[in-house]
Amino acid sequence: MSRYFGDLVETRLSRRSFLQSAAAGAALPWAALAGTAGGLGFTPIRGSKADRVILPRDYVHDVLIRWGDSLRPDVPHLDTTQLVAGSLFTPQAALAQQGQFGTNCDAIQFFQLNEGARSLNGLLCVNNEYATDVLMYPGRKPVFGTHPDHVREHVQSHPSIVATSQAAHGISVVEVVFEGGRWRYRRDSAWNRRITATTPCEIRGPARGAAWMRTRADPEGVRVLGTFGNCAGGRTPWGTYLSAEENIQDYFGNFQALRARRDVDGFALRSHQRWRMWDKLSPYGWDVVDARFDALAEPNEAFRFGWIVEVDPRDPARAPRKRTALGRFAHEAATPVVAPGGQLAVYMGDDDRFEYVYKYVSRDRVASGASAANDALLDEGTLYVARFNADGSGEWLPLVHDTGGPLNAAAGFRNQAEVLINARAAGDALGATMMDRPEDIEVHPHNGRVYIACTRNELRKDAAGAGSYGNRNIDLGPNAANPRGKNLWGHIIELREEGDDHAGRRFRWEVLVSGGRDRGFGSPDNIGFDARGNLWIVTDGEQPHGGNNGCYVFDLAGGERGALRQFMSGPVGAEICGCEFTPDNRTLFLSVQHPGETGTLGRPTSHWPDGGRLPPRASVIAVRRADGDIVGS
Ligand code: FEO
Ligand code: CA
Ligand code: CA
Ligand code: CA
Repeated sequence: MSRYFGDLVETRLSRRSFLQSAAAGAALPWAALAGTAGGLGFTPIRGSKADRVILPRDYVHDVLIRWGDSLRPDVPHLDTTQLVAGSLFTPQAALAQQGQFGTNCDAIQFFQLNEGARSLNGLLCVNNEYATDVLMYPGRKPVFGTHPDHVREHVQSHPSIVATSQAAHGISVVEVVFEGGRWRYRRDSAWNRRITATTPCEIRGPARGAAWMRTRADPEGVRVLGTFGNCAGGRTPWGTYLSAEENIQDYFGNFQALRARRDVDGFALRSHQRWRMWDKLSPYGWDVVDARFDALAEPNEAFRFGWIVEVDPRDPARAPRKRTALGRFAHEAATPVVAPGGQLAVYMGDDDRFEYVYKYVSRDRVASGASAANDALLDEGTLYVARFNADGSGEWLPLVHDTGGPLNAAAGFRNQAEVLINARAAGDALGATMMDRPEDIEVHPHNGRVYIACTRNELRKDAAGAGSYGNRNIDLGPNAANPRGKNLWGHIIELREEGDDHAGRRFRWEVLVSGGRDRGFGSPDNIGFDARGNLWIVTDGEQPHGGNNGCYVFDLAGGERGALRQFMSGPVGAEICGCEFTPDNRTLFLSVQHPGETGTLGRPTSHWPDGGRLPPRASVIAVRRADGDIVGS
């Protein structure tokens, strides 16, 4: 049965928002687009603990691509029957992984190439965020909470697993086709590409060449090997992919030894502290055999991660570009939208407890056409951080060095590169609002309002009071935009830019909905809109009904405004990511990330998607209505 989040949303959408749109002379485009507004016709499913993908009646899915599926005819598929015997302990496995789909798929963006009467093909850009070592390597204990001695010994015994893991991270570009009533990927496509933790990437923007970006391997500070921790992402108007480097801190170790050195600049120590880098060995243990992840050996390498990375899926020869103008933090969303004045705005979240929401605005206007004409837009512009005031107003505070504000040398920022590299501390100095883990952010396709998923924050206190988190003393109590102590279930904030101008400096905001038992969902992570303006939400965390993570949809557009329905339930142990529609809205791509993460190779808790006794593996699925109609109808 549908649940309602009640009078709040009902009132807001039927009275304020609806009438304001009409009063402003705005058309109601969803009505024209969708015929029947909202258009959600499916019968909701119930939450489930079953180890499979559950969809509403009349819906089907294809497992489109799985971790280890080959992206080149000369590269073998991963044989998961051999994992438990240690098949990934060989250097050959690392080599093969460079030509195979990465693991733990997260964000998905679809770039359409062609459409025929009964076919559709395009490129999927998919983030491969991190590796679940316990489901790859026999004998490996869980990454977090395991004694570093175990990690060190395991990596030393099988040193090539670091190269395998590095190749399993990053981004996969893969051509997919809908033909004969089903989706499949093309193994022999010339578009297929892996970008891994060792792929050369170009450093662009104000921090390019800065002292903190220089290493022994790159004395100019212009080129870095690889990307990892790639979480959510976005698509630019000129057809490139934005990938967000998130939890990069868990790949670097030995910061205690760095702190003990007397010649290290205070900026470096403060910045690493603010990121909660690891004192001894990193949890993934790459630093056991790869010195660039050892802070003592290469103190600046960590500064070269935590950025937004731009990839042109149509140009496999072009190096990915790390766009430093968009700041360095645990990036989650990177959602571009063109402002009325033509500038590009990019909304971004920093997914840690008590971190901030950001927005970048380009100096110049978006040009029509391909990426070359717009190449400088993500280098020349202004980064802002959000302050949510208690009266429902809000401000975007510019992260610009030395404009008379607090971002100056006395406060620890000697230039703009330092502001961007330690953007979190710059946000602290400006008094930005500490949020409950802001993850994905989406812009409504019809009315331009901005939706921010705050996944949860169990460390938020019920009342104001100083405490420590992330090596800083802060007020751990609630604020107006994060009003719940011990926020176990998360919430979604609706933000409306003043004058609907995404390039502007002021906004209004409200909490749209809070997760919880009465709402039927929790831990919103990625979100997305369909063409009708319905808000789709996928989750990463415990669900209040006790079931597995899944996909939900809020009927923001239609006659049942405020209704919530569960559309999908995922396998055991998985979080659901992606939430990407084809332009015709007849296919929904979802990432099933880390199925069976509660188990090990020896004791699997999931066998999805291969079944039998096989270990689980992260995969992208393509969901359709069996009759080919619009997804959600
Ligand atoms: Fe990678 Fe914040 O989820
Ligand atoms: Ca996420
Ligand atoms: Ca999204
Ligand atoms: Ca997540």
